[in-house]
Amino acid sequence: MVSASAPLDEERHAAALEGHARAFETSFRAGGPPRLFFAPGRVNLMGAHLDYNGGPVMPTAIDRGTFLAARPRADRRVVFASLREAGRQAFSLDELPDERTGSWADYPLGVLRSTLARQRAVGRDDLGGVEILFGGNLPVGAGLSSSASICVGTATVLDALWELEEAPLERVASALEAEREFVGVQCGIMDPYAVGLARPGHILWLDCKDRSWEHLPLDFSHLSLAVADTGVRRELAEGAFNERVAECGRAFEQLAAHALGATCLRDVPPAVLEEHRGSLAPNVAMRAEHVLREVERTFEARAALLAGDAAGFGGAMTEAHASLRDSFEVSCAELDRLVEDATSVPGVLGSRLTGAGFGGCSVILLERGAEEDLRAALDAGFRRAFGRTPKLEVFHGDLGPREVVL
Ligand code: GLA
Repeated sequence: MVSASAPLDEERHAAALEGHARAFETSFRAGGPPRLFFAPGRVNLMGAHLDYNGGPVMPTAIDRGTFLAARPRADRRVVFASLREAGRQAFSLDELPDERTGSWADYPLGVLRSTLARQRAVGRDDLGGVEILFGGNLPVGAGLSSSASICVGTATVLDALWELEEAPLERVASALEAEREFVGVQCGIMDPYAVGLARPGHILWLDCKDRSWEHLPLDFSHLSLAVADTGVRRELAEGAFNERVAECGRAFEQLAAHALGATCLRDVPPAVLEEHRGSLAPNVAMRAEHVLREVERTFEARAALLAGDAAGFGGAMTEAHASLRDSFEVSCAELDRLVEDATSVPGVLGSRLTGAGFGGCSVILLERGAEEDLRAALDAGFRRAFGRTPKLEVFHGDLGPREVVL
């Protein structure tokens, strides 16, 4: 956890966090002021739909995310409340439910369960109760990873209140276990890594096959990242995400026999797909086509970034979008409009949908100074097509999950 050592970055959240502390005191009444925490959301710039295919991904954190106000309790109860969801949830540390409650609190509850299990394994059974109020400024269901932000944020709070001093990767592991094994979402590993290992001025390079990672610098003194929100929410499309996961699984099953030693779709050589394309269902072949080309493009984008070629990196983002639209079929008219209009603006280097797709947000890499032209182009094009304007925000990275001392 990074402590509050960068006042400029915290200024953006100071007023909101003060409000969050007051809301905590109203919600939980007397007992001393809470400690305050922030966990960012993320955008992924390259490696779309590669995490569950064992490929490389290139996400970075944004300075919008989850606010958490937290305080220890004298008893062994854990109480979760949220400014964004109805229903306070309380549990006893001696009797945590083994089954999902079906409420929003399953995410922090899953984190609590895995953190406790790890602590019990090393003989710590003396941990006291806590109360946490959740809130924040990350839109839910917009593809900016609000659930990973909540999970990593919860792990950060427990670590601080219980003085665990776990490594960031252990908190990432708790978040991942909560989402996949407790809540039961078939998500890849990218999101909690992106949130939990965020470093300002950097993109995370994460190879999802062996989970090796490193930070690659992104020059925010010359570049900005913008996120444009279509306003289209993808809850209705959860089934479509799982369908893509299943289609990629089928592609791997059918191609693996021809690719010696392949352990995931990412390992299948493109020539094997070409040779056996005819034996795959057309939609399965198209999904495999996206995955194998996106792996190559993500390595090309990495090389461009390391060579200081931001335009080359941006070009790979825009190509990725075309593939997500035509081969992976996870875009929609609103996202295509945003990408097309953004990439016609001088100073914009690249754009693509971020997150799973089917709505949510596009991400734009641009030179600093082009922000207002971008806003004008997106507003005009979107209004013409859909009768409303998209929400656009500009980011320059984030410090990662941390306690904030105001
Ligand atoms: C969602 C999932 C991620 C990843 C992306 C697509 O955001 O949560 O794990 O699969 O879609 O890249």
